[in-house]
Amino acid sequence: MTRLRTELPGPRSLELAARRSGAVASGVGSTLPLYIESAEDGLLVDVDGNRLIDLGSGIAVTSVGNPAPAVAEAVHEQIDRFSHTCFMITPYEGYVEVCEQLNELAPGDHAKKTALFNSGAEAVENAVKIARHATGRTAVVVFDHAYHGRTNLTMALTSKNMPYKQGFGPFAPEVYRVPMSYPYRDGGLTGPEAAARAIDLVEKQVGADNVACVLIEPIQGEGGFVVPADGFLGALSAWCAEKGALLVADEIQTGFCRTGSWFASDHEGLVPDLVTTAKGIAGGLPLAAVTGRAELMDAVHVGGLGGTYGGNPVACAAALGALRTMREKDLSGAARAIENTVLPRLRALAEKTDLIGDVRGRGAMLAVEFTEPTPDVAGRVAKACHAAGVVVLTCGTYGNVIRLLPPLVIPDDLLAEGLDILEQAILGVTK
Ligand SMILES: Cc1ncc(COP(=O)(O)O)c(C=O)c1O
Repeated sequence: MTRLRTELPGPRSLELAARRSGAVASGVGSTLPLYIESAEDGLLVDVDGNRLIDLGSGIAVTSVGNPAPAVAEAVHEQIDRFSHTCFMITPYEGYVEVCEQLNELAPGDHAKKTALFNSGAEAVENAVKIARHATGRTAVVVFDHAYHGRTNLTMALTSKNMPYKQGFGPFAPEVYRVPMSYPYRDGGLTGPEAAARAIDLVEKQVGADNVACVLIEPIQGEGGFVVPADGFLGALSAWCAEKGALLVADEIQTGFCRTGSWFASDHEGLVPDLVTTAKGIAGGLPLAAVTGRAELMDAVHVGGLGGTYGGNPVACAAALGALRTMREKDLSGAARAIENTVLPRLRALAEKTDLIGDVRGRGAMLAVEFTEPTPDVAGRVAKACHAAGVVVLTCGTYGNVIRLLPPLVIPDDLLAEGLDILEQAILGVTK
């Protein structure tokens, strides 16, 4: 059976697009105009019966499958008992259990505590609240190419103007941006050299004593799957420890087995003071967390953290199902196996075309960066993949990166077919 039954978009998707244009604010975009009716591991089935190969996982969310049986079961079981009480009014066990598991899994052997929220941006906002409260300082150091969300504070923390910030200011103050370690584009600085460059700016322009936290994605997501040079994160961490600033790792895109380990920090032995998580945590339900050193998490007065829906019982049940699936199916191992399949293919492809400047990533978070710092080639490659029914996403400050975030449970044949199509799309574009 061929995967595509109609031209894309098919007639039912076109009908829905017409309805959408009358009802949905146009500021909310969609990468593909295909309306989804159901999903399986590695496949999205649209309303016209087209079966799309999913190499995006809804931006690194459905790592455990879509839906993973353990998630679906846990959600059904929970929703039949109760849907909400608000943990700040009358608590329930699922919230506590998720926090216990996150405390266990997050990097470091120290005592940890966790608070739950709804979205990644909300987790980042709360990590900054906690860091400021615990240190009594205000400055937040962030990096070029960083992405931390779309709320007011997280827009300020995010680097790229279009589409995230344009016209939405004024932005929150006390945010200071320094250069990232970006091996492909920073002239081959070593990790420690790149860290020294960032630290020098902070010391001169901000003052070490004013820094509440250094906030960093251990591998940048929206900014282009930038893997910093070895030693960069460690040097930042050592500087933070020496100066009394907190190191906050934003693991919202990299967390939960995505990079071949529970967290990307693990690869470098990085032990952040606070970790933000979301996305892959709950198999598609909205849930996010800040996990950190117990004494920092407990520095905030009672009632200072929370929200109506944060740690909703259905989302917590889903997270427990998702975490069980990650353990039972060894999804970190699955991510490493994906890396072992995909990276050699992408590297071989880079030998065949001078359009590709860099191939990088870890686990099932892999990317191709085109040499030209414009969205042109990546946009055309993505379009060709979409036309062939393969969901790939672009990213990067220059919009010139194709990123792959397949579900960690994707069957081998689907992954191989998706890669064949990506390869043809790249070899088919001309400068
Ligand atoms: C590293 C990182 N931080 C924060 C966010 C914001 O998460 P959310 O979209 O759930 O608010 C994202 C989302 O892409 C992200 O990748």
